[in-house]
Amino acid sequence: MALYSEKVMEHFRNPHNMGKLDDADGIGEVGNAKCGDIMRMYIKVDDEGVITDCKFNTFGCGSAIATSSMATDLIIGKPIEEALKLSNKAVVEALDGLPVHKIHCSVLAEQAVRAAVKDYYDRRGVAYNPEDFRFPEEDEHGHVIEG
Ligand code: FES
Repeated sequence: MALYSEKVMEHFRNPHNMGKLDDADGIGEVGNAKCGDIMRMYIKVDDEGVITDCKFNTFGCGSAIATSSMATDLIIGKPIEEALKLSNKAVVEALDGLPVHKIHCSVLAEQAVRAAVKDYYDRRGVAYNPEDFRFPEEDEHGHVIEG
């Protein structure tokens, strides 16, 4: 069996929504201390609280690129609260799986989305439960949240 699913390869070769949003309403940046990969997620949110656009920049491995790409697909058109609930597991499932040693890359995608939502809430002065954004300095996957 191939190491990577067809979907992972597809998103790696032709990532969706790659780039930057100059007028983003929220920007999240996370990094992995161990591999040094960095992911930046930009979201645009309308007055109804729906994510109308999302772009990402990932300086990292192929799985980090594929999971960022899939994460953007999964949250565009969704209410911001739903983006907050996006789990790395949902991203992996949507990609038809990832090798076990690459699961941590999907955690980076989940954290980048959450960091962008937090930034959006902070900019708008929206009250939120800090527990939803309490990232450990370094979790069991070796991911560190910056900013
Ligand atoms: Fe760094 Fe994939 S190896 S995120």
